[in-house]
Amino acid sequence: MDTGEGAQSKTERYELLRPVFLIGFMGAGKSTVARRFARMCKTSALDLDSYIERKAGMKVKEIFAESGEAGFRKLETEALRNVSLSEQPSVVSCGGGVICTECNIEIMREHGYVVHLMVDAKEAASRISDLSTRPLFENIEAASRRCNERMPIYNAAANATIDTKGKDPYVVSKELRRLLLKEGVLCKRQE
Ligand code: S3P
Repeated sequence: MDTGEGAQSKTERYELLRPVFLIGFMGAGKSTVARRFARMCKTSALDLDSYIERKAGMKVKEIFAESGEAGFRKLETEALRNVSLSEQPSVVSCGGGVICTECNIEIMREHGYVVHLMVDAKEAASRISDLSTRPLFENIEAASRRCNERMPIYNAAANATIDTKGKDPYVVSKELRRLLLKEGVLCKRQE
C-alpha cells in the first residue's frame, strides 16, 4: 500500500546526522537503495566499491586479479576510514565482504549507523545482472554457503536489519527512511 509518503517527499528535505553504512550480501540492493534513498531524502549517497575503483584506477575484479582478496581488503579498509571521516554524512553502500575485516565493523559502528539489508543467495543471484563483476560469487551453491556463514556477522555488526525479500528498492528505501527517522539518525530539515 502506498501511504502517500512518496508524494510528500517531493517537497520535504532531510538531513543525515551521521553516516549510514549499508551492509549485506552481494545483490542485497545496497547501491540501488543508497541512490534511491538519497534521491528521496535529498541527501548524498556513496558507493564504497566505486570509491575504491576511482582511487585505484582499476575495476574491483582487476584488483582481485592483481592483488588478490587480501590486497582488495586493504584498499577497502583505507576507503572506509576516509569515507567515515568525511564532513558531509552520506549513505554509504559497502561491498558485501566489508564485515570480513574486523576493524571495519569498529570503524562503521564508531562513526555511523549500520543497517543490514538482508537477502538470500538465490534472490541475490537473480538481482545481479553480471555475475562476472563479482569475483566471490562463484556459483549459487558456494554463494549460499558464503551467505549463510556471513549472516550472523552481518546481524551482529548492524544496528538494525531490514529484510529485503520480495521488496523493490523503493519500498526498502522508504523502510530505511522510517527507521533512520525513528533512530534519530535522519531529521527533517526546517526550511
Ligand atoms: C564482495 C562484494 C562486492 C565487492 C567484492 C567483494 C564480497 O561488492 O566488494 O567483489 O566479498 O562479498 P557487492 O556486495 O556490492 O557486490
